[in-house]
Amino acid sequence: MERLQKVLAHAGVASRRKAEQMIQDGKVRVNGEVVKELGVKVSANDKIEVEGVQLEKETKVYYLFYKPRGVISAVSDDKNRKVVADYFQHIEQRVYPVGRLDYDTSGLILMTNDGEFAHMLTHPKFEIEKTYVARLKGIPKREELQKLERGIKLEDGMTAPAKVKMLSSEKKQSKAIVQITIHEGRNRQVRRMFDAIGYPVQKLSREQFAFLDLRGLNAGEYRELTAHEVKVLRVHAETGKRG
Ligand code: URA
Repeated sequence: MERLQKVLAHAGVASRRKAEQMIQDGKVRVNGEVVKELGVKVSANDKIEVEGVQLEKETKVYYLFYKPRGVISAVSDDKNRKVVADYFQHIEQRVYPVGRLDYDTSGLILMTNDGEFAHMLTHPKFEIEKTYVARLKGIPKREELQKLERGIKLEDGMTAPAKVKMLSSEKKQSKAIVQITIHEGRNRQVRRMFDAIGYPVQKLSREQFAFLDLRGLNAGEYRELTAHEVKVLRVHAETGKRG
């Protein structure tokens, strides 16, 4: 369910502000009834008319994007920094990110105009697995990484068990590359987890989201998900299947 003014804006009727005005002016009908209050929610099954013309349903689109570092996971930014939506300006639909990656994190992020799909994939109860590769300052010991595997206390509570694998380390430069898979999505979670064991993250990239990876893409590039991939993601979320 989405707010009527948002649905109108997404369908390209008018900006959200103008759509609100049109609703208040009595120009919009839902299932034949004029709706004047703001905040009414509608679903894909509702028939919406604007000044007597039925709304075209926007085609749902799904993209896998390789977000570069230094880009905000949003559709706009008040400080005018680059946002993920900037890479999708030439497509007809208005897509937004599914969840978020930090400004300074690169990697896989899904983009869609399907609100229900985005909600499903970001809700913690669906436990979608996400795999990150982190470059750490210092070289953690096995026992220290095991703390992350078991779950570690952060200021917003214990983390769920994670899978952690040391990929490589360089003694001389005192750096390690570690892969970590989590199924939660708290703010700056991976960075905070490594901070908690005393090894700050210097560089972070999300390499996998469920069964999807970045193969074939360079930073700043995207591809459409296949209909099958979209379906399998729904099944994963619905059945709580991880990874
Ligand atoms: N964890 C982080 O710390 N940053 C991200 O962008 C994603 C997960």
